[in-house]
Amino acid sequence: MSEPLVEVRDLVKHFPLTRGIVFQKKVGAVHAVDGVSFDVLRGETLGIVGETGCGKTTTARLMMRLLEPTSGTVRFEGEDVTHLRKRALKPLRRQVQMIFQDPYSSLNPRKTVGAIIGAPFAIQGLEEGKEPRRRAVQELMEQVGLNPEHYNRYPHEFSGGQRQRIAIARALALEPELIIADEAVSALDVSIQAQILNLLKDLQRDFRLTYLFISHDLAVVRTMSDRIAVMNQGKLVEIGTADQVYHQPRDEYTKALFAAVPVPDPRRQRERKAERARLRLEARTGSAPVALADGSGDGSENGTVA
Ligand SMILES: Nc1ncnc2c1ncn2[C@@H]1O[C@H](COP(=O)(O)OP(=O)(O)O)[C@@H](O)[C@H]1O
Ligand SMILES: [Mg+2]
Repeated sequence: MSEPLVEVRDLVKHFPLTRGIVFQKKVGAVHAVDGVSFDVLRGETLGIVGETGCGKTTTARLMMRLLEPTSGTVRFEGEDVTHLRKRALKPLRRQVQMIFQDPYSSLNPRKTVGAIIGAPFAIQGLEEGKEPRRRAVQELMEQVGLNPEHYNRYPHEFSGGQRQRIAIARALALEPELIIADEAVSALDVSIQAQILNLLKDLQRDFRLTYLFISHDLAVVRTMSDRIAVMNQGKLVEIGTADQVYHQPRDEYTKALFAAVPVPDPRRQRERKAERARLRLEARTGSAPVALADGSGDGSENGTVA
């Protein structure tokens, strides 16, 4: 579990800001990802947490080469994949799979579940023939807790949690090394969230998967991650074991972020409240640059930083 599967170095992505409709003039750039370096170790779950807009999804899309970086490198199993051309990307497309927040928009409503889960086989030319493919798909359905008899049903016939199971089955089809889950449970009810998180943990154990688990929800990231990376405004401000980042954050931004998570223990909660007040005061007086979703009122906190 110590060898890096992915090595990200000094990754930068600037999106041009333009003005005008006919004659677009570049007036600046959004620094979506601004010099980010980290490793994803084989077999671990690395969480990436940070407020909406801090660059998490852009980092993931750069790693999958769905976007070209402005600069920096991404290595996968030691190979520099930063500038591979389309055809050379095929193995990477197989070994890295992504699960998104909203399974409904990523599942074609006109395709049956069988066709959706079997699509990766078709693209890579695997499990050819109707019967072998059906069997392979039904096996995947069973692995993610779907009824294999529902092979011919359509996405709208499933609940939100079941649709996320369909997306997970599709991601597993090609036996990937790395699964990037980007806000994978953020749209689900809390009880369903727990079921999907447990499924992901079981699959990780059974298939020796490596996860990059992205969420703005600190509680969810904490549950899932061995290590946690904290992003703020395109930069990675802290990375460490989940316990270290949670209990002994080093970075001022991380402290502020985690101070807003609700704590079941009332005494700790009072301490946290005092801590938040202190951090806000520091922020106002300019001694620490914190931008914090204000969760100061009692009971108004929900553990997210959106
Ligand atoms: N295709 C794009 N064009 C322009 N700006 C973008 C694009 N994608 C993302 N951004 C901007 O980059 C920043 C980071 O976005 P994103 O990576 O989606 O953040 P997160 O996933 O952490 O919410 C945001 O300011 C966002 O508006
Ligand atoms: Mg995002």
